[in-house]
Amino acid sequence: MNTQQIIDGEASVTPNTLAAMAATANPRLREVMAAFVSHMHAFIREVNLREAEFDTALRFITAMGQQTNDTHNEVVLAADVLGISTLVALRNNPEQQGQTAAALLGPFWRATAPECRNGDSIARCDMPGHAMMVSGQVRDVDGNPVVGAKVDVWQASPVGLYENQDDAQPDMNLRGYFITDAEGRYSFRTVRPAGYPVPTHGVVGKLLAAQGRHCMRPAHVHFMVTKPDFKALITQVFADDSEHLETDVVLGVTKSLVGRFQRQERADEPVHYTLNYDFVLERGDCCLPEAPIK
Ligand code: BEZ
Ligand code: FE
Repeated sequence: MNTQQIIDGEASVTPNTLAAMAATANPRLREVMAAFVSHMHAFIREVNLREAEFDTALRFITAMGQQTNDTHNEVVLAADVLGISTLVALRNNPEQQGQTAAALLGPFWRATAPECRNGDSIARCDMPGHAMMVSGQVRDVDGNPVVGAKVDVWQASPVGLYENQDDAQPDMNLRGYFITDAEGRYSFRTVRPAGYPVPTHGVVGKLLAAQGRHCMRPAHVHFMVTKPDFKALITQVFADDSEHLETDVVLGVTKSLVGRFQRQERADEPVHYTLNYDFVLERGDCCLPEAPIK
């Protein structure tokens, strides 16, 4: 029932707003919006938000939308640098039964990466840098191999750019998905990714500068591991020897996601790296996010 009344002073704004929304049919929307409004109003009172600051905040939000397009998502970036994406990922994917930790999706996943066969390379042109072999097994929480899981991978190049940020790379370079074999195993060849700066051309870059923060991410490979009847695992594996592991600008590094990027130096072959990383999936509904870019 809507018990809204004429506003009678500042103190009445919050209860009246809650009353205006009280008839929301969807109970979860009602709960979330009531908490959101209560916290936003409390925040405004706590910091005593000035009108000029409110105006700045509205401009910031407007600019995030205006700076988002098919190849760049400023809104996702803002959620990432504020720790919001990591908090949501970790709260929704606790490691209780030994599942692999989740990490933020980030703004660069594309839903249309090509299928590859185990052992294939996702480097679709000559690339600088060191070759890297990546392999591992997908298991359920009871230790059984998960056969036929889709292991979707994407990563930055050895100069720290995703293909959609870099005219020098072919479409879908350093992206692809693999299907786990009869033992739940996946494997692919690639080049070792570099750490990189998140895009700073927009309002999020201005905010980072104002906060005196660097804009770097440690080197990592993204994984999305899915199979019907298992919760989709969206995560990242970080290079153990990477700069910025402790100070990732998007707070994405969880201890268990630091992988051993092992340097191989043998006389008879070029220096290269290996990474072995297993994933553990929990049973549940397989829900995929909407891709932040096309
Ligand atoms: C990424 O890992 O691709 C990423 C995450 C957050 C912001 C920018 C990039
Ligand atoms: Fe990334």
